[in-house]
Amino acid sequence: MLNKNFLWGGATAANQMEGAWNVDGKGISVADVMTKGSVSQPRQITDGVRAGEEYPNHFAIDFYHNYKEIIKLMAQMHFKCFRMSIAWTRIFPKGDEKEPNEAGLKFYDNLFDELLKYGIQPVVTLNHFEMPFYLSTKYGGWRNREMITFFMNFAKVCFKRYAGKVKYWMTFNEINNLIDTDNPFNAWTGAGVLYQDGENIEQTMYQICHYQFVASALAVKAAKQIDPELQIGCMLHFGPIYPHSCQPEDLMASVKAMDRRFFFSDVQVRGTYPAAVNKIWQRDKIQLDLTDEDLLIIKGGAVDFIGFSYYKSTTAQADQDGDFLELPNPYVPKSDWGWAIDPVGLRYILNLVSQRYNKPLFIVENGFGAFDKLEDNKINDDYRIKYLENHVVEMMKSIELDGVKVLGYTPWSAIDLISASTGEIEKRYGFIYVDITKVRQGKSGFIPKSSFNWYQNVIRTNGACLKDKVGLTNE
Ligand code: BG6
Repeated sequence: MLNKNFLWGGATAANQMEGAWNVDGKGISVADVMTKGSVSQPRQITDGVRAGEEYPNHFAIDFYHNYKEIIKLMAQMHFKCFRMSIAWTRIFPKGDEKEPNEAGLKFYDNLFDELLKYGIQPVVTLNHFEMPFYLSTKYGGWRNREMITFFMNFAKVCFKRYAGKVKYWMTFNEINNLIDTDNPFNAWTGAGVLYQDGENIEQTMYQICHYQFVASALAVKAAKQIDPELQIGCMLHFGPIYPHSCQPEDLMASVKAMDRRFFFSDVQVRGTYPAAVNKIWQRDKIQLDLTDEDLLIIKGGAVDFIGFSYYKSTTAQADQDGDFLELPNPYVPKSDWGWAIDPVGLRYILNLVSQRYNKPLFIVENGFGAFDKLEDNKINDDYRIKYLENHVVEMMKSIELDGVKVLGYTPWSAIDLISASTGEIEKRYGFIYVDITKVRQGKSGFIPKSSFNWYQNVIRTNGACLKDKVGLTNE
């Protein structure tokens, strides 16, 4: 069965749960200027915090003031770890200060202590969709090489301060979202950049990526100097893109589409740029600020493990221009937000990534966003249990039958929080329901769902309760 140290837990991000957006010296982050949206209405990015706008991340679920109650519930689920992020703006409110904000550092000290009290290991992302807004407006965000210095100040302060409390770190959340330049949120939340009309967007995107690769590699090196035991990972979005049909052109289109995802992990895991991207740069006449020294840094800063999110798969169909169209997979159902539900895709991607890199993998996000209904103070979320169970079974097959090395599984999300894409709490993912009206009134509003009990049992038995479904009969 699974290794006894397997890291079962749940995932979150600071900007989507903490609230307290301007408390104890915290600065404004890029997430703090994003308005509320919904399945049918996109979020807006405003040029600062504007009166009369609704900014859901400002209050979120007020984890900042409720973390003790919430961690107690996570401990009841027997969490072994908790994936969270540190809000950069609590530590460096504007981002370019020389000294960190002690109140922000203290908050995470207290939070880590509370987790460790229950034997829950923090797994921490440094940059999860919320860099300082000031760095975006004053310096142009990650268009600017100076960002590497600011990020490293932040990273080093965190590694030093929390070295004894946090072993597993990740640098940039879903760094490979940057490749999809059609969605303006990717460069905004990932890099503090809004592309301008007329700019060479592809060139800017590759420049941002390059600076982040250098920063990530420097962070790996700095962490090891502080404590060689620290484990630093990358964090990728790894939804597989299948060929839409078995026509060879579609297969090739899917390979090329996946290359766009793997470009990032190729650099961060292997420490070198893949040959294909050099061809793209030549073809598109991309000119980057990229030095020999940068390449040496990247080479010396390969990550220890590969963290990734898996929610859904999609397909690629070759088009006449040698490019591809992304089309839904007709063989799998969808959530209310149109996300494909494909548990086998998780086993597939685990196999694929493991074969490609032969490194430990960590599934740091996987989950089902749904409208939950509170009835008699209870949530019956069988649909979520079904989703998670089918995915856990496929993960266990990859470990037990295929020999893939997986460090842990932290579904999104430990508790309901604000959706990143739509900025609403109504797209719920958690094991714990958040009655936001009560929480806003300062009352306790955290209610375990049916999935809470299901997950508690999975962790308690270390997955053994699912062994028949996995096809393991001899234990
Ligand atoms: C991942 C992000 O992309 O997906 C999370 O790392 C995000 O921050 C999660 O919340 C689910 O997406 P959404 O848009 O439904 O919240």
